[in-house]
Amino acid sequence: MKLAAWIKKSGVSARELAARVGATEATISRLKNGHALPSMEMAGKIAHASGGAVTANDFLDLGPETPSSPGNGLDGARILLIISGGIAAYKSLDLIRRLKERNCELRVILTRGGSEFVTPLSVGALVGAAPYTDLFDTKTEFDIGHIRFARESDLIIIAPATADLMAKMAGGHADDLATAVLLATGAPILLAPAMNPHMWAHPATRRNVERLTLDGVSFIGPNQGEMAEANEAGVGRMAEVPEILGAMEIIVGKAGAKPLEGRHVIVTSGPTHEPIDPVRYIANRSSGKQGHAIAAAAARAGARVTLVTGPVGIADPSGVNVLRIEAAADMLKAVEGALPADIAIFAAAVADWRVAQLADQKLKKKPGANEMVLDLVQNPDILKLVSRGHKRPELVIGFAAETQNVVENAKTKRRAKGCDWIVANDVAHERGVMGGEKNAVHLVMEDGLEDWPEMTKEQVAEMLIERVASAFSPAKASA
Ligand code: CTP
Repeated sequence: MKLAAWIKKSGVSARELAARVGATEATISRLKNGHALPSMEMAGKIAHASGGAVTANDFLDLGPETPSSPGNGLDGARILLIISGGIAAYKSLDLIRRLKERNCELRVILTRGGSEFVTPLSVGALVGAAPYTDLFDTKTEFDIGHIRFARESDLIIIAPATADLMAKMAGGHADDLATAVLLATGAPILLAPAMNPHMWAHPATRRNVERLTLDGVSFIGPNQGEMAEANEAGVGRMAEVPEILGAMEIIVGKAGAKPLEGRHVIVTSGPTHEPIDPVRYIANRSSGKQGHAIAAAAARAGARVTLVTGPVGIADPSGVNVLRIEAAADMLKAVEGALPADIAIFAAAVADWRVAQLADQKLKKKPGANEMVLDLVQNPDILKLVSRGHKRPELVIGFAAETQNVVENAKTKRRAKGCDWIVANDVAHERGVMGGEKNAVHLVMEDGLEDWPEMTKEQVAEMLIERVASAFSPAKASA
């Protein structure tokens, strides 16, 4: 990043620069680290403050090019990207770059709101052609026309998609180029929403999401996490670019290799909540990130995926049939109902215990009693029941969350449960796996052990699904 290099070389600190250009130090740090793009005005001030050493174009260096993936499912696809207004618009510049790498025929519409966050100039520089911005631009209409635009796309991706744009789509509005194209198109539409968590949770947005889903629109994200606004966190962050690309590949349906095509994969994910009384439950810290990433990777590999998930705060993966449950007993029922399957992957952190007697009224404190004893009984072991059941999938994979003797315990667990493989991970608190982004796992098989390096949960999922695809015998697929 040129700004970082200049700050280092010039001896001007981020704080000093912030004061000179009227920004906060945090903003300068984000710009310096390539985590945000400046407005044209801010870029101009920085150019001035640096004596022209750092110009607006220098902010378009978004990191090293990644080589096109061999299974590029977007090769040659005609993609229309709509960028609407939101702080996440800067990620769309990276998306453009990745789509260009993937050989997509790319056109971009920048809504009026979108151009408040990224400039037509920066978008145009990356696309290699000016973005379209106005419905009544006669030149644009002559050049392509919104109806042709609508027809000549294999996929329309809206990233970021604002609450307002979604509301307009749900209502069938067509008062600017983006909404006119969206109303006129027969192409599949994928939305990557990004907004404040309160806006995402608002009943109006919920209604619009439901309406759009019924209309056949697909969603990727939003994800849980910190928002650009200070002290705001929750579900509302735009999905990351690799997640968006993955969802696009599934929709365009051109992914070269579909090694799990025709296969049914069941994945369990997240925690379970075991009720104590109408207001309390027993739970654990599982976020569902690993299980959801596995479900998404299996879908990308062409499988029909049933994801049985406990209560989580993350988005449903694209292209997956999601069954939501709360308690272990319901998870067992849902898994049994989803059988037969070719492959079952049990990534859920199922609660081992539930209360023996579920109270139908809220438990009250007893006067004078300082202690409270709950009688617990063991939950059904879903992995074991399925592994030993008469509808056993051909390949059954369990997880082992361990805090000590990870591999040894996992080997014992694999035999005890009767599954084929165990993905063992060290969930000792200091490693931050539970709820965290990364995972260092060991794959324990009957005849071998693999120690995988620390990776993101998405990478673990990709690698596991690759292993599944190569180990899975091409036997008859289940119904
Ligand atoms: N599992 C399951 N049903 C349960 C408990 C666990 O399906 N009632 C599955 C998990 O999804 C995971 C594997 O079994 O794939 C191992 O889970 P883990 O919690 O590590 O093991 P436990 O069987 O609970 O053993 P322990 O807590 O004694 O280590």
